[in-house]
Amino acid sequence: MLIKRKKGWELPESMATPEAVFFNRRKLLLGIGAAGLALGAARFARAEVAPELYPAKRNPSFTLDRDITAEKVATTYNNFYEFGPHKQIANAAQKLTIQPWQVKIDGMVAKEITIDAEDLIRKMPVEERLYRHRCVEAWSMAVPWTGFPLKALLAFAEPQSGAKYVRMETFQRPAEAGGQRQFWYPWPYTEGLTMEEASNDLAFIAIGVYGKPLPKQMGAPLRLAVPWKYGFKSVKSIVRFTFTDQRPKTFWEALGPTEYGFWANVNPEVPHPRWSQATEEVIGTGKRVPTLLYNGYGEFVADLYKDKSGEKLFM
Ligand code: MTE
Repeated sequence: MLIKRKKGWELPESMATPEAVFFNRRKLLLGIGAAGLALGAARFARAEVAPELYPAKRNPSFTLDRDITAEKVATTYNNFYEFGPHKQIANAAQKLTIQPWQVKIDGMVAKEITIDAEDLIRKMPVEERLYRHRCVEAWSMAVPWTGFPLKALLAFAEPQSGAKYVRMETFQRPAEAGGQRQFWYPWPYTEGLTMEEASNDLAFIAIGVYGKPLPKQMGAPLRLAVPWKYGFKSVKSIVRFTFTDQRPKTFWEALGPTEYGFWANVNPEVPHPRWSQATEEVIGTGKRVPTLLYNGYGEFVADLYKDKSGEKLFM
């Protein structure tokens, strides 16, 4: 995303089926008795967990007003600053190690835990949803995400009643992600939602796309998808969910507070300080279409903001 460099920052379907299948098959294979075979089976069984989730059953509540973006287009035009400040980061992102992947859930929760991403995913109600995605740079796409509602993760985390926000953080591994060696960025990439936003039906954790596990460049193994907000809110490759009573300072807010805010709800009538948000280019089509308030998801989310008139909701 284009940002004006400023001195301040210039320098410095559910767990039951896969688990049952996993354990039964494992028992059977172990019963064969050959150590070598059993070892191979364990490895095979682990790799088998994810394929069983795909393709997940599509949830018909989330429909599109446009064609799904071609897979090749969506998987080769990406924003992932950890791998560079341009769109052709797909190759560089392959350096990211995603197995094993630990996710920490901490802060104001009943009990802090660190859990393997696969174990977490197996506990979640996985489904497919068709979502629009509108980047603050005025381009958009429409993709079939596989994943689970963020509110299922909230139920698992058991936040304390005083928690007001969930803060989400991307990995920090400069050895794998060359962009993180650019020290003037406030790594790790951080985003946040209010608890009301995170509990909204639309807030989704994507683990796959196009009926397959997420490619690394799109934020494997798990990323946020909040389609009523500008794309930068949809933080990729999450390693930590922290529940807090303090509004998190986000990556883009730290970089350009006059251009990128905490709320970042899509609104065609509120221009970015340096460009209009009235229309968007649908990537892969060469067409521009009018941008919609809340990216067309007002019926799901407008109520979240009815008592927030003093806030800059659209940047
Ligand atoms: N998450 C991290 N960790 N790093 C990033 O640079 N870019 C954001 C968002 N999530 C970004 C990120 C922006 S600006 C957009 S538009 C989307 O990811 C792009 O997602 P896509 O590459 O899957 O289209």
